[in-house]
Amino acid sequence: MCSIIGYTGNGAAAQLLVKGLKRMEYRGYDSVGIATITSNHIDIRKGVGKVSEVDNSEKLRLLVGNMGIGHTRWATHGVVNNVNAHPHKSSTGQIAIVHNGIIDNYNILKKELQDKGYFFKSETDSEVIANLLQYNFDETKNIKKSMIKTVSSLKGEYSFVAVFEHGLLAAAKFHEPMVIGVGKNGYFVSSDVLGFVEYTDDVIYPDNKEIVIMNSSGLLQFFDFSGNPVRHQITKVSKEFSDVYKGEYAHFTLKEISEQPNTIMRAGQACEDELEKIITLLKNAKKIYVTGSGTSYNAALVAKHLFLKYGKIIIEPIISSEVRFYPDYFDDKSVLIALSQSGESADVLEAVKIASNKGTKITSIVNISTSSLVHMSLHSVSLNCGPEIGVAATKSFTSQLAILYKIANSLVDNSLKPDFLKISKSMSEILSDHEHICKISKELKNATDVYVLGRGIHFPIASEAALKLKELTYIHAEGLPGGELKHGPLALMDTSVYVIIINPNDSTYVDTLSSTYEIKARKAKVIGISDKNDPIYDHWIKIPSISEPFYPLLEIIPLQLLSYYTALEKQTDPDYPRNLAKSVTVK
Ligand code: G6P
Repeated sequence: MCSIIGYTGNGAAAQLLVKGLKRMEYRGYDSVGIATITSNHIDIRKGVGKVSEVDNSEKLRLLVGNMGIGHTRWATHGVVNNVNAHPHKSSTGQIAIVHNGIIDNYNILKKELQDKGYFFKSETDSEVIANLLQYNFDETKNIKKSMIKTVSSLKGEYSFVAVFEHGLLAAAKFHEPMVIGVGKNGYFVSSDVLGFVEYTDDVIYPDNKEIVIMNSSGLLQFFDFSGNPVRHQITKVSKEFSDVYKGEYAHFTLKEISEQPNTIMRAGQACEDELEKIITLLKNAKKIYVTGSGTSYNAALVAKHLFLKYGKIIIEPIISSEVRFYPDYFDDKSVLIALSQSGESADVLEAVKIASNKGTKITSIVNISTSSLVHMSLHSVSLNCGPEIGVAATKSFTSQLAILYKIANSLVDNSLKPDFLKISKSMSEILSDHEHICKISKELKNATDVYVLGRGIHFPIASEAALKLKELTYIHAEGLPGGELKHGPLALMDTSVYVIIINPNDSTYVDTLSSTYEIKARKAKVIGISDKNDPIYDHWIKIPSISEPFYPLLEIIPLQLLSYYTALEKQTDPDYPRNLAKSVTVK
């Protein structure tokens, strides 16, 4: 999703902004722009493409000035082009803004402003903020008042940063991420700490409905949407935020896949206090719901199998974006577990709001401990797996599973105790052989359709593997519950199709092997993921044996690697897949 950034201080704004935008590339975007102020004038440069490409062509970092704003755009309103890229100036050119989120009533506001003589260049909803601010500033001649009037007219969810040509920067937060960096040589406002963590680890997290005003002379004022002053403590961000370099790895995705033997151990040591509180709530709950989007939802599906098979406990996984259609589902005797790497996915936050309004107790498992979801939760456990930059979730998935195993174990009186050391060693074993997976990816790159088949607890892993293939390689991929093969998908099997069979040597083995024979009889190619070889497989990817419930933690690793290497073969960018964003902060 869009990233916003602003800076004011002694430094060269353009260079700091470009660097910050590069650090936030993981959020997903299609165009880039920055604006700086020099001699009471706002200069803007922008273009379509990656930060480094637009910087090369437009010389973004050569813009002069000590105050500025920057943006990477993920198109919602209007096509991807230079005009729609941010920053947007007001018609008079005295104000420029960058915006993350959606302004629901922009059409009405635009019409009103056009009637008053303000003109618009872009198709975006964001441009309305620039002209509305300008109108309010023209009326009040006061920046604070113009910000308050502006936010009182906007409907939707947003954070935006504005620069005023006479040297003032103002920003507002309403249900979209915004964080302030308090440096020795200047202040930052950003969608993510990563936008400035190289320069300062002193951070302020404004609450929703807050405005901040800052300038190069040290002014830093916070107030709420009604204009009342707000005081904030400075928080030191954890050192882990500085771990945002690829190091020896070609891509963040590969780095993050490779970190899993370590991150699984860290998740295994999750904060026991919070975990205990969640477990107590779950033990007393009338119903347990689990929600998430994308990979996090697949983790919820694994939890369903774990709780049901080993604890005879029925829990209900619900895709976060679907919750709004079932608001009456929830009540004050139930508990919701929200799963999210970022803690900022709009769908997840909305699901939590709906459940919370019905009195449901909110718990969460989140990687970013300063995120909105953590604030909205009664109790929250951290994944503690460090920043995940690759858009496709990898290490956060296995860390989510680790914590769900710990919860399940407590609910079933310790009969499901994960041996994290053993799991970690087995993950390292899988990760020691990339060559074999690399070879298979050279063949898989030509596939147009891949099916991933698994039974029982392996079905959610099949869905997660298919999601990785889609995200990283753009190949059509689907997860199939093995038994459903003959209820439709068998019609699709022919020589052009690849089927990945998740078939560890457990209670699902025999049934899954017979599905493999049915597939092979229709001449599709099969790749078996198992601790036991069988001549039926065209390719066999070996995983170590482990006790039955814990196979998911191992079998996903080669599937992540296979998607990564197939992406390299197809020359797609595994870290930043097209059209996708790491943190989907709009509905
Ligand atoms: C986006 C990302 C996915 C991720 C999903 C949920 O779609 O591209 O990789 O699984 O959001 O994100 P969350 O941060 O809530 O886990």
